Amino acid sequence: ATRDGDGPLGAGVGGPTRALIEDRTLRQDRWWLYPLTTFVVFSAFVVYATVRAFMGSRYYDSPYLSPFYSPCLGDCVDGASDFGQPFSWWPLSAALIILIFPLGFRMTCYYYRKAYYRSFWLSPPACGVAEPHAAYSGETRFPLILQNAHRWFWYAAVVIGVILTYDTVISFRNADHEWGHMGLGSVLMVVNVAFIWAYTLSCHSCRHIVGGRMRHFSKHPVRYKLWTWVSKLNARHATFAWASLFSIWLVDLYVLLLASNVFDDPRFF
Ligand code: FES
Repeated sequence: ATRDGDGPLGAGVGGPTRALIEDRTLRQDRWWLYPLTTFVVFSAFVVYATVRAFMGSRYYDSPYLSPFYSPCLGDCVDGASDFGQPFSWWPLSAALIILIFPLGFRMTCYYYRKAYYRSFWLSPPACGVAEPHAAYSGETRFPLILQNAHRWFWYAAVVIGVILTYDTVISFRNADHEWGHMGLGSVLMVVNVAFIWAYTLSCHSCRHIVGGRMRHFSKHPVRYKLWTWVSKLNARHATFAWASLFSIWLVDLYVLLLASNVFDDPRFF
């Protein structure tokens, strides 16, 4: 190996100013476990979500609407479109109309970026483990410079969060729209929307939106207070990213099973 700045070993950890270590890593622990687990779970989710998004059916079983299809703006089944059907002409699955927002939000999320850069691109796979790529331009060029759109996706995510909260509230009605009913689906939707909000409000962009671009916290006590709350949540952003991923998955699967008549929603009252 040479350290003259040319060729594959001339960049990154092979750069001329880096210590000459031949091994890819000196780590002795099972550092590969985290990126491997992430790869397996994310891949499974992507396969599941793609199938469900294109399915275009079994996304509504009154009063539950799958989060993949909310708001249902296409040519949706009766009862699923509380926000109208402005895209009723859309020939494909209604999920494809709105999925760009939650998908874009998660794809550009600081935590998910870390997770998929490590597990899918191995760039790098873990701290202290050399990456296989020779060149590194970070997020300074197209397409990765588009990651900067995260803040705009955050605004959209807040709107989606409000709509999912609405879906959760109306899940406490029965099929005749009478209030005061609760089934297992309502419980799952409450858990899901709580994780969605925890994830959305713990976002790094949210932290900057509430507490950034200020010279003096002392002159903005309300924003300072909000910033301290968001900062506490932000420390657990990765946990909420995973929890909300699983809860969305679970609620969609639950609606799919109900709509497929696999079982009936257990009703508590
Ligand atoms: Fe993860 Fe914004 S940083 S959602």
